[in-house]
This record gives sequence, structure tokens and C-alpha cells, in this order.
Amino acid sequence: MPCDMLVFGGTGDLALHKLLPALYHLHREQRLPKDMRIIGISRKLLPRARYIDLAERHCRAQIERKDFTETTWQSFSQRLEYFAMNAEQSSDFARLTNFLVANQQCSYIYYLATAPHLFASIASHLALNGLAGANTRIVIEKPIGHSLESALTINAAIGQAFSEEQVFRIDHYLGKETVQNLMALRFANALFEPVWRSAHIDHVQISVNETLGVENRGDYYDRAGAMRDMLQNHLLQLLCLVAMEAPVRFDADSVRNEKVKILQALRPISGIDVKDKTVRGQYSAGHIGGHNAPAYYFEKDIHSDSDTETFVAIEVEIDNWRWAGVPFYLRTGKRLAKKTSEIVIQFKPVPHSLFSDSQANHLLIRLQPEERISIELMAKTPGKGMHLEPVELEINLAKAFQNSRRWEAYERLLLDVIENDSTLFMRRDEVEAAWQWVDPILKGWQQHYQRPRPYPAGSNGPELAHSLLEKNNREWHE
Ligand code: BG6
Repeated sequence: MPCDMLVFGGTGDLALHKLLPALYHLHREQRLPKDMRIIGISRKLLPRARYIDLAERHCRAQIERKDFTETTWQSFSQRLEYFAMNAEQSSDFARLTNFLVANQQCSYIYYLATAPHLFASIASHLALNGLAGANTRIVIEKPIGHSLESALTINAAIGQAFSEEQVFRIDHYLGKETVQNLMALRFANALFEPVWRSAHIDHVQISVNETLGVENRGDYYDRAGAMRDMLQNHLLQLLCLVAMEAPVRFDADSVRNEKVKILQALRPISGIDVKDKTVRGQYSAGHIGGHNAPAYYFEKDIHSDSDTETFVAIEVEIDNWRWAGVPFYLRTGKRLAKKTSEIVIQFKPVPHSLFSDSQANHLLIRLQPEERISIELMAKTPGKGMHLEPVELEINLAKAFQNSRRWEAYERLLLDVIENDSTLFMRRDEVEAAWQWVDPILKGWQQHYQRPRPYPAGSNGPELAHSLLEKNNREWHE
């Protein structure tokens, strides 16, 4: 059956910077269903030709030169359609229905690349207009709500219109190759399982550091902050993949069952504990890559007295057998010195040290900028005596698979939606369990109010984030 993809928010940043380039790549590799149309939807009154121009401009800018050819663009653009409508107006859904019915034998994928407050109403309008039948799927982007209560409301409204199997909740981190490699590393190699537990692991660090500021998303970001924008979803998903038990099978429910158990085992942080276990920061003016960067509250669409956090660090405990006593340190921030996303598994030192300069091993899983996995092992330096130095044992994924193009996260995830595979998407109970844990922290911050700690743009975040580890003689891997 043919399949069309309708992108609500079709002229927004996500559609133009991520979705259309990803769809172009899939088209180029002949992965898209034959007659699939991609229908951009937004309020702007644009003729189709202008939408195609807009899409072309953005795709050209995003896609590597060698991959962008006129011929491929011409054939890809045949798939593009545009439909102007107000997604809050029911009469416009009637018009959309007429626009679509010409193609009745088609299945539809609705991608809601819009603000989350529109999710519920779009879903119910689609259902009211008979556009939510069994041959349809709906894709929604994080953040799903801004609290447990709002997430429950959105999930309930979507659940009334679509069954859970039809709903794809995207967290693009799950589409990143190295994130999937984390599962391969853990569950396809016998080497790691015996040591992957509290007896051998001292602590885990998950850092997602960005150099970018809020760009053109100030209005959204100022209401979200780092906790809702990054930690509640991307970092908790990474934590789940590091900490979960091996699923029985690599299928949607088995994987998601294990992830949800971890979210439910996170030790709650609430009330005054937020002072000990969490650090909020906000960037002040500084320098990045030789350029001056303004303070957060001078950025476009940000309130001048905003106390939104652009950095958050948290010490998390998982109350289960495998992880009892092993802290997971999570941190993420904008306008930091370097863009890096990485997971560090810090092992315990050897039980009895023969060598004075021996250090504990660590496993580094770097997601960005380069994809690599390395283990630091102790080795003897050449020559007299027994002097040790750490040496890296490295798996360079880009080099190992140099003949294969590295897929962007959205390519993999869009193809999974088209092929109806929801293994790498969040189930309703996962999103709710994540909010259940995050909500008390947000409340604790209100009850024991402190302004976020300032940190200069281009630094490694607020000093206090270092104290979070230093109090236990640990330090962030920089
Ligand atoms: C998005 C956040 O989900 O992830 C952005 O909303 C953030 O604020 C982005 O910049 C980071 O993604 P990536 O893939 O560049 O690490």
C-alpha cells in the first residue's frame, strides 16, 4: 500500500534542518516507498514551488556536496507537496481530508514537528476527521509535555485517537549509531557482562556538552531549560541503555520493558536533597572558538531576568542489585568549551596494587563529535624498571566501517517508522516514568529556590558541578 508522510511544522527548523535532509538521503538510497509523498504542512501561505525552493535551500546547506546532485534533487522534489492550514482549526482538517482522500488507498504517517501544546489537538482533529485509521501512524517529538501531568494529558489525548502501536515517540539520541552500538557492545560481547555491575564499576558519567547556545529557539528553550530539553529524555535514555538488563529479544517490547524498569528504579530526589544532588547553571558572557558569546539573558527571545538553567548536573542512584552504590553522574549544558557527548564507565582499581603508578581502567563511549569506543589499559613503558602508563585500546567506528556512510539519527528513525519498527522509540510508560522522576526535582528547585550558578560561555560549566564529584574524590572526564 502506498504511504504518505505529512509533516506538521513543515517550515520549521526541525523539518528543514533534519527531516527533509534525512528523507533526501533515504530517497537517494532508494529506501523510501515508491510513490511516497512528503507533504509539508504549516500556516504559511506558500505555493508548492516556493516550498520546494525553501526545502532545496536547506537541503543543499545540510547535505554533503558529493551526496547532493541535481538529478537526485529533481526526483526527490517530485515527492514534495505543501498544504497550508492552521493546525488548531477544525475546518482546516476538513480541507486536509479532502486533499488526502483523492489517494484513499494510502497509509499515512503524521510527523508532528510542532510545539508540544499542539500534539493533543492535532491528534484528536485527525481522529474526528477519520484520518486515524489502522493504516496510520503518528510521530511525536520530545519534549512530551513539561511535567508529568502535562505528559499524561498529551499521552491520554493521543491514546484516544491512536492505539499505542501507532504512536512513535522520537528521541533522536536512540537513532545515533554509537548509541545502538552500546547495545551491541553490551549484549553481543561476552567480555563485558561479568564486569558490568557494582562489584567492578566505581561510577558512570554521561555528559552531553554543547557549544551552541539557544539559537532561534529562545521562546521554547526559556520555558524548558536543560532539564526538560535534554536530561528528561536524551540523558535518561542513555542511562537506561547503560544500566538495563539484557532484553530477552531485540524487539520493541522486550527492549522497552527493560528500560522502563531502570526508570522505575531511579532513586527519587526531592525537597532539600536537590541541593546536594543537583547543580543548575546558566551561561554568562564569554568566548567560544575565538568569538565573544553573549550571556543567556541577552539572547533572542529570552527574558532579561530569566532563571532558566542552561546547564544541569545530577548525581543519580539506581536502586537495584546490579547498580546499588554506583553513582551515575549526568550533565548537559549549552555554550560549553567543547561539543562532546560521551559515556564513561569508570572501573574500580585493582584489588591489590603491585605498581605505584597503576590507575583504574575506564571505558569511553564517545557519541560525538567522533564515534569511538576506547578502553584505557595500563601498560609498561619500554626500558628499565616497571613504570606504567595508560594506553588506549580503541575501536574507531568511522575507520572500521569507512566504506559505509554514517547515517544521521533521523534517517534511521524515519525508516523505522516507515517500516513500523518501534524498538528505538519511547513507549508511553517510559516517558511517564521519566517525568515521574524529574517532576520532584523541578519542584525541589522551586521549594529551595536558588538562581542558577553563572558560568562563562566557553567554560566547562559552573564550579559547583565539579564539587558534585569532588566530594567523593572523583572528577569529570574532560
Ligand atoms: C535537541 C535539543 O533534542 O537535541 C537541543 O532540543 C539540542 O537543544 C539537541 O541542541 C542536541 O542534539 P545533538 O544531536 O546535536 O547532540
